Amino acid sequence: MATIQLNKLTKAYGKAEVIHGIDLDIPDGEFVVFVGPSGCGKSTTLRMIAGLEEVSGGDITIGGRRVNEVDPKQRDIAMVFQNYAIYPHMSVRQNIAFGLYTSKLPKEEKASRVEAAAETLGLTALLERRPSALSGGQRQRVAIGRAMVRNPAAFLFDEPLSNLDAQLRAQMRIEIKALHQRLGTTIAYVTHDQVEAMTMADRIVVMRDGHILQAAPPMEIYDNPVDIFTARFIGTPSMNVFPAQQSGGVVTLAEAAPTVMAGVRPQDLKVAEPGIAPAVALEGLVTVTEPLGHETLVHFTAQGHDFIATAPGHFGALPGQTVRAEAAAGTVHLFDPKTEKAVGRA
Ligand SMILES: Nc1ncnc2c1ncn2[C@@H]1O[C@H](COP(=O)(O)OP(=O)(O)OP(=O)(O)O)[C@@H](O)[C@H]1O
Ligand SMILES: [Mg+2]
Repeated sequence: MATIQLNKLTKAYGKAEVIHGIDLDIPDGEFVVFVGPSGCGKSTTLRMIAGLEEVSGGDITIGGRRVNEVDPKQRDIAMVFQNYAIYPHMSVRQNIAFGLYTSKLPKEEKASRVEAAAETLGLTALLERRPSALSGGQRQRVAIGRAMVRNPAAFLFDEPLSNLDAQLRAQMRIEIKALHQRLGTTIAYVTHDQVEAMTMADRIVVMRDGHILQAAPPMEIYDNPVDIFTARFIGTPSMNVFPAQQSGGVVTLAEAAPTVMAGVRPQDLKVAEPGIAPAVALEGLVTVTEPLGHETLVHFTAQGHDFIATAPGHFGALPGQTVRAEAAAGTVHLFDPKTEKAVGRA
């Protein structure tokens, strides 16, 4: 078990600084998910925690111990990568036991840890199989098993599901979350999939260009994103953000000199539901509709801006048709047009 702390952590490759002094406290047992666009520094941060990448400035502590110069093997953490290297010529049992290859534990203890990990991961019946006879998800579990047998104080995962198809990802997401609930071990997990972040994390860390924009529980970020980038990055489909004028609690789409940037989640922007006193009302032309069964996503343009609204499952609007979409008071996010920081709600 371990807390992980990053203090003013920086990383430079030559003259190019890619991590700009980030601070983060990961309490013991927390499941933290790093998200952000490609190149924002997620893997670099994780690799510095693992000791695979040197720290350029600041400190990393694990369990209260400063580990900047500590060898990766001595950090008591296990890393699971995207390209989980499992060996085709070894059985599942041998592949999992490989996690203890350099360990000085007695043979019986090693064997029982392998059995216990296999049991936890539902691999017991597959222990003598070769990886070629496993599904993608089972292989991924073998890679996790190899990390588990070491009983690490923390697990680091770098996009462990990105090679799997959508259905398997959804299944492994639940398995890893359940595993965390059983083991209670600190997990730092990197993904650029915001659904993974929302569903798995105790706390999401949103990164951009080597900075942390926001670190908070998923619903806190969803409800109160600190800026436009975070607002648009978390939530599907992305929040509608548009230049606006605000007066008397009502926000209107503005062409020139907006006083504010307004943001409405598609789930809050409903195709004409008479009866609500809206804070935003938009009228535009339908471009595309996407029926999802329980609801329909309605894409439309208003004054040259693209929006997504939601309508009931059976919604028959055709492209080119006029729609009116409204958002109720309290659901409209307001951002400063210059700094793009959140300034309140309407
Ligand atoms: N060995 C290296 N030498 C120089 N620059 C590097 C090196 N490794 C990474 N970088 C740069 O550091 C920045 C952060 O890279 P990093 O791999 O951490 O991004 P990431 O958030 O993991 O992205 P992705 O989602 O694509 O995996 C990028 O601009 C990248 O080009
Ligand atoms: Mg990466």
